[in-house]
This record gives sequence, C-alpha cells and structure tokens, in this order.
Amino acid sequence: MRRALDHARRGLGRTAPNPVVGACVVTNDGVAVGDGCHEGAGGPHAEVVALEEAGARARGATLYCTLEPCVHTGRTGPCTARIVVAGITRVVAAMEDPFPLVRGRGFAALREQGVTVEVGVARDDAARLNQPFLTSVREQRPFVILKAATSLDGRLAAMPGVRTSLTSAGAQRHAHYQRAQVDAIAVGSGTLLVDDPLLTVRHVYRERPLTRVIFDRRLRAVPGARVFSTLADGPVVVLTSCDAVSRNRDRARVLEEKGVTLLAVDSSDIAVAVRALGRRGVQSLLVEGGAALHQAIWDAGIVDYVQLYVAPTSLGSDGPALLPGSTFGPASLFDRQVRQLGPDVLIEGYVHRPD
Ligand SMILES: NC(=O)c1ccc[n+]([C@@H]2O[C@H](COP(=O)([O-])OP(=O)(O)OC[C@H]3O[C@@H](n4cnc5c(N)ncnc54)[C@H](OP(=O)(O)O)[C@@H]3O)[C@@H](O)[C@H]2O)c1
Repeated sequence: MRRALDHARRGLGRTAPNPVVGACVVTNDGVAVGDGCHEGAGGPHAEVVALEEAGARARGATLYCTLEPCVHTGRTGPCTARIVVAGITRVVAAMEDPFPLVRGRGFAALREQGVTVEVGVARDDAARLNQPFLTSVREQRPFVILKAATSLDGRLAAMPGVRTSLTSAGAQRHAHYQRAQVDAIAVGSGTLLVDDPLLTVRHVYRERPLTRVIFDRRLRAVPGARVFSTLADGPVVVLTSCDAVSRNRDRARVLEEKGVTLLAVDSSDIAVAVRALGRRGVQSLLVEGGAALHQAIWDAGIVDYVQLYVAPTSLGSDGPALLPGSTFGPASLFDRQVRQLGPDVLIEGYVHRPD
C-alpha cells in the first residue's frame, strides 16, 4: 500500500476535480508487476494503468489501491469490471470513496464477483492525500488553507495598510510551491489595494491554470491592479455583491472587458462565497490574507489547514495581528510539522483531526 500511496502522490495538484489515486498489482509470491497513478481528469484510472502493466500476471494477484475502485461510467469505464476481467482475486483498498456514485458500491460489485475485499489499510495516509476531494464531496465546499507570514510577535505587517516584506527567498519559494498545488488562491480587497500582488506561481512548475480570487464585497478593486494583467496564468475571480455591481456599473464593465470574472453573491457571509467557489470547481483554496480576510474565514469555522511562515523579526504592536482574540494557536494544530526555511520557520497543520 505504501507503494500505491507513492504513486498516488505523483498526481498531487494535477487531478482535480478527481481524487489522487495510486494502485499496485502484486502476485502471490509478493512481486509487484504493475503500478498505476491517476495522472489527471479524463485520463485512465490508477487501477487500469496498473492492470495494463501487469497484463496476464494480474490473474490470481492482489490489487492494492488507495481509494475504492469506481463502479460507474464517468469519463472512463468502471474499474471494478476491469479488475474482474483481469482475474484479480483480492483487492486491498485504503478507504471507501465517499463520492455519491461510488460510496461502497465498488466494493460490493467486487464481492459479488467473488473478489476478496479488504478495506482500511493505511487509511489515514490515504485520507490526508485527498483532503480537498474529501472536503468538497462531504461538505460541498473547498478545503481551505489559511496561509500567513508573521513576525515573531505575530504581526502581519508593520502598520495597517502598509506593505511589509517579512520572509526570505526560501520561504517564498515554498509558498509558490504551495500555490502550485491548489486550485485557487485568495486575498482580500485590502491586500489588493495595498500590496498590489501578482498572485502568480513563480519559481516552480504548475501544470494547470491557477484561479485567483479577490474577496471584494464593495467592488473596490481597481482595474489597473497587477493581478488583472495576469489572465494568461488563469482566471481571476472578483467575489463581490449584487449591490456593489449595480452601484459600480462602469468599474464592473471595465473589469469584465479585461476578462475578469465577477461573481456576485447575495450574502455577506464568507462561507456562502466560499461555497460559490466550490460550485465553480474549486476544491482547494489557499487564503493568503490580509488580516480581515483571515479573521472572517477563521470566524466562519471553515479553515481546515494552517500554514504559518514565521520570520525572525519583531514588528511591534502597531501592525495588524494574526487572528487577534481568537482561540488559534499553532500548538493546537493536528499533525503539526515544523520546518526551517532559511532564517524562517514554517509551522503547519490541520485545524481539526483529518478524517
Ligand atoms: N503577512 C501576511 O501573510 C500578509 C498577507 C496578506 C496581506 N498582508 C497585509 O495585510 C494588510 C491588509 O489587510 P487588511 O485586513 O487591511 O485587508 P484584507 O484582509 O486583505 O482585505 C479586507 C477586505 O476584504 C473584504 N472582504 C470580503 N469579504 C469579506 C468578509 N466576509 N469579511 C471581511 N472582509 C471581507 C472587505 O472589503 P468589503 O467589505 O468591501 O468586502 C475588507 O475590507 C496589508 O498591510 C498587507 O500587506 C499580510
């Protein structure tokens, strides 16, 4: 199963809206004869790739897979039928697929055909690999990562409304690597106006276009902002309100003429706006700030994972703090990891125990 998980990892950042999946065919004498990875939506499933590599050696063998094999016809045919035809006699799966068209039916179909099925091997590892997929299927919203760079004294900037460079090149490269993995990144209109960020992926390779989101209920985004010149890198969505669009028709028109997507939501509740992104196919959302956006998304209870880049500097008490007055503390993160990135430290982990 560890080998199948390694193959699944090769799909990270490439398979949305599909999950990452790995598979491995092993003969009764313990020889791995076929490996598979799902490389992207529309491409063959990991089980089929592994079975094709194994060929006739799959007869009587065991198939290890990191997720329940599908039983429905989507963009490709059902894996369960291929498994049976290949002569696999035992399937070991890490976890059930909660997708409504599968959800246990894959295992049932295999058992009906006389295949032995075991479920739950390395389940936690498999579930952690697929958090965006699992969150979007179970909760109908994207997996939300709160990312922030802070000083040692927990400040996001030197003063309100001031652009402050905090982290080193090493930490920034890591942040770009993270951008390369998610479906969308987001900032608030305050950050757009103060920092004028490009919000592109630099220094690392990204396979798919990256969606950039501006949370901007009053539609204050200026059409000259640099992010609006980067539409070749992927869509830019301004999440605003119907009221702001009707009060700023000229600005809305100019933005749309530039190719910007205006997504007007009839609620000031940030969870509603985040769900609207989910309906547009965003399964993972990296929220980069600033202070007000971090606070809103935290208070809405929809932050799943936190990435904190801490720089060895103090900014004093004038600047905005990260989540002031909240219960948040890095010590409360689950599966917490701490890593040195040049002079900075990255602390990351899940807000709730992942399932
Ligand atoms: N260190 C870091 O990691 C980091 C990262 C980014 C930014 N920053 C810094 O943070 C500062 C900017 O932070 P900020 O707090 O002024 O601005 P911000 O959080 O970037 O944006 C705030 C704006 O977001 C909009 N928004 C949309 N939906 C919202 C919601 N549900 N709840 C609250 N706001 C919502 C609000 O405008 P509407 O009411 O019109 O919607 C609000 O004024 C800058 O100094 C920047 O350099 C630091």
